[in-house]
Amino acid sequence: MDWLDKFFSRIGKKEITIGIIGLGYVGLPTAIGFHDAGFTVWGVDVSKRTVDMVLQGKNPTGDPDVGDIVPAPETERWHITTSAAEAVPHCDVILVTVPTPITHDLKPDLSYVEVAGKNVFQSIQKDSRTIVVLESTVYPGVTAHTWLPIIKELDLEIGIDVEIAYCPERFNPGDAAHGVRQVARVIGCANPEVGQGLVALYSQLTSEDVRYVGKIEVAEAAKVIENVQRDINIALVNELARILPALDVDVEDVLSAAATKWNFHRYTPGVGVGGHCIPVDPYYMIQRAADVGVPAGLITAARAVNRSMPSHVAGVLSDLMWNAGVPANDAKVLLLGWSYKAEVGDPRETPAEPLAQTLMSKGIEVGAWDPHIESTDYPEGVTVIEDINDVQDYDIAVLVTAHKACVDLDWQSLLANMRTPLLYDGRRVLNLSELETMGWKVHAVGKPT
Ligand SMILES: NC(=O)c1ccc[n+]([C@@H]2O[C@H](COP(=O)([O-])OP(=O)(O)OC[C@H]3O[C@@H](n4cnc5c(N)ncnc54)[C@H](O)[C@@H]3O)[C@@H](O)[C@H]2O)c1
Repeated sequence: MDWLDKFFSRIGKKEITIGIIGLGYVGLPTAIGFHDAGFTVWGVDVSKRTVDMVLQGKNPTGDPDVGDIVPAPETERWHITTSAAEAVPHCDVILVTVPTPITHDLKPDLSYVEVAGKNVFQSIQKDSRTIVVLESTVYPGVTAHTWLPIIKELDLEIGIDVEIAYCPERFNPGDAAHGVRQVARVIGCANPEVGQGLVALYSQLTSEDVRYVGKIEVAEAAKVIENVQRDINIALVNELARILPALDVDVEDVLSAAATKWNFHRYTPGVGVGGHCIPVDPYYMIQRAADVGVPAGLITAARAVNRSMPSHVAGVLSDLMWNAGVPANDAKVLLLGWSYKAEVGDPRETPAEPLAQTLMSKGIEVGAWDPHIESTDYPEGVTVIEDINDVQDYDIAVLVTAHKACVDLDWQSLLANMRTPLLYDGRRVLNLSELETMGWKVHAVGKPT
């Protein structure tokens, strides 16, 4: 039996052991998914807190879909450790799901991919042909450029000791219909035989299409452009949300009208783009384009539009308060929702933060309520509101995150506790005419004032 037939047969018998390096938003559900599919899983995370929580069956991430389904404690098919050296020798396939953030000067930070790669390759046994798959979001070329020098230095041989591949994760946190078991996957690998083996393996995890797409760089580029496309589409509606109100036209009316055409794709404007994919990944593409001397003008411009939305909205909020007669030295803004997206307790790259910082830099007091966020997740200076009923004397309530708890809150009670009845819908999800009838002075992103 050749290598691929043997690999297929071992998948069928669930004899393949899978290592997951990094048990965060991506790694933990992936580990649980392969465990539930019947495989033996070794999960590794450098964070002792994460390892301890997972070993207690708790979910260290804010993704509600992972909630109560973390297997606990260790069994013969579920091993969790801080040590890659302990896990790697047991594994046939290792998936690396570590962060790929940007630096303060908006450059890709590949240090996690490098360190995780070193930890894994150092522990790979000769002749084991262990397959190491990067799942983190990167620009085309990262997997090979980062890992091949390490492999060479350790005197490992591709095809004999180790194989490398890339399979981007595309799941959507907080969206049960697009979890790790429901999204299509693409696999890039220089060796088509290994690519086919991984197609068979990932097909055990997800019910959707799994496809070998050729070399690693194709899969790397596919992932990053998926998020670049979203950033550009959102930037367009955010730009329209600034132009159209100046023409006394509501952007939502225009989008509803345009959406009656068969090929118009509707996006919704908002206070900004958050999370650590859409506002981050375009910088990976911008950097790669710069490396090869090709301008990425459109991608750069879209990023600039989306990045400027929180400060634009802060300016609109200030104007609304001044026009309502709120004294500049005693203005209070209430942010409803802090995390970057609905139903997720994830504050990373949330537009709420630059919005609050801009307001506070104008001397405006900012309070925030988000039932999904820990009080320690807010920056200094923001008044954390634990109970929405305790809110007193705010001048404008701003819907920042469309959590159900925020959209459905008791608007009548909140109105009674406001000092000024101003309301700003930063996500275009509220029934503004109903709220206006209640007594709120309603405003919204992209709506003429
Ligand atoms: N969160 C998402 O929605 C999402 C979706 C698709 C793709 N991605 C991409 O997946 C990657 C991971 O994202 P995430 O949201 O899971 O990040 P995360 O920060 O939630 O999790 C990463 C985990 O890796 C651990 N870690 C860091 N270095 C390590 C090392 N050397 N060894 C072991 N563990 C290590 C961290 O402690 C952390 O628990 C990123 O590249 C991201 O862009 C994320």
